[in-house]
Amino acid sequence: MFQHLDRLNPDAILGLMAQFRADPSPQKVDLGVGVFRDLSGNTPVLECVRRAEQSVLKAQSTKSYVAAAGRAEFNEAVEALVLGASHGARGARRVRTAQTPGGCGALRVGAELIRAAAPKTTVHASDPTWGNHVPLLGSSGLRLERYPYYKSGEVRFEDMLERLNRAAPGDVVLVHACCHNPTGADLSMSQWKGLTELLLQRQLTPFLDLAYQGFGSNLDEDVAGIRLVADSVPEALVAVSYSKNLGLYRERVGALITVSDTESRADAAQSHVLQIARSIYSMPPDHGAAIAACIFADQALRQSWIEELAGMRKRIVDMRSLLASELRARTADGTFDFLARQRGMFSLLGVSGAAVEALRTRHHIYMLGDSRMNLAGITPGNVAYVAEAIAAER
Ligand code: LMR
Repeated sequence: MFQHLDRLNPDAILGLMAQFRADPSPQKVDLGVGVFRDLSGNTPVLECVRRAEQSVLKAQSTKSYVAAAGRAEFNEAVEALVLGASHGARGARRVRTAQTPGGCGALRVGAELIRAAAPKTTVHASDPTWGNHVPLLGSSGLRLERYPYYKSGEVRFEDMLERLNRAAPGDVVLVHACCHNPTGADLSMSQWKGLTELLLQRQLTPFLDLAYQGFGSNLDEDVAGIRLVADSVPEALVAVSYSKNLGLYRERVGALITVSDTESRADAAQSHVLQIARSIYSMPPDHGAAIAACIFADQALRQSWIEELAGMRKRIVDMRSLLASELRARTADGTFDFLARQRGMFSLLGVSGAAVEALRTRHHIYMLGDSRMNLAGITPGNVAYVAEAIAAER
């Protein structure tokens, strides 16, 4: 039967990872896949993770199954981290959480939940958005549309609202909670308020993707927008990832939070979530979630996490302003000043596909075809080289 299959091109991000690995040049610079890198270009295991992992291993007496929803203590801590300790004005009764294999697992299960509830729903995603959103949500069979989001360094908020105003009641709007991937341009608090009003007026359901909590300002401020939305609307979904902010990429740690109108609807939604999980992967992996739960529960480990997170954030902010100023010095204009204003690991450099290719083939600098660059790949050691190459090829 496999004779019927044509060979597919690799995924854009994973394909670029492989190309970078295969490049023997000592000058090569990886600005591709979205992983945090330290000053030496490594993606470290956080100290809080090392310590928590030791205590998890010490305490563990079995590898027997946990549950389709994963660890209860992990799920409770996630709800508090994301929605706040009190879960907003309407209380925790309408909130349910299931641990998932990474944020991707949460997005896919969430899409299947939407399809089970209302198969004709259209999901509106930002243009541009993270490359994997379309396959993750689209392969559930839901219809996808795009709303305008970004131009020349800024959010096109009026255009976004204008488009969403024409969405059908009941449609779903996928929104990046913070550190928008790939643009680094986030909604301001007043824009979150405007979006919340529109969601209520048009009866649209938000699906909030939270992959970078703590990479923008801090753990609380980065979720202020989604807390506002979740407290205001009758129903919402939140996909959460701990790949980046705990550096647990390969352990696949995530969660799907559903917010429902009533307690009985919350239970019904959760019963579907668990059945969907069972039919795709049965149960989420436990190891990473056990580490995360240990960090969330232990005051010293949690403090160490908050400090390490601040260190990662500062490194990205520093590299953003360093690259912007190196570019300003070489281009004698402010074309790339927006890099210093944006947040999180990504920005769209805004150069042509030909320039992206020239950067890769002539200078061994790897970024995605749409010129998305991971600023965490910049170091004081390579910033001059990168700025020189961008100035030459733009
Ligand atoms: C990225 O955007 O590069 C990361 O989220 C990694 C991935 O899975 O695409």
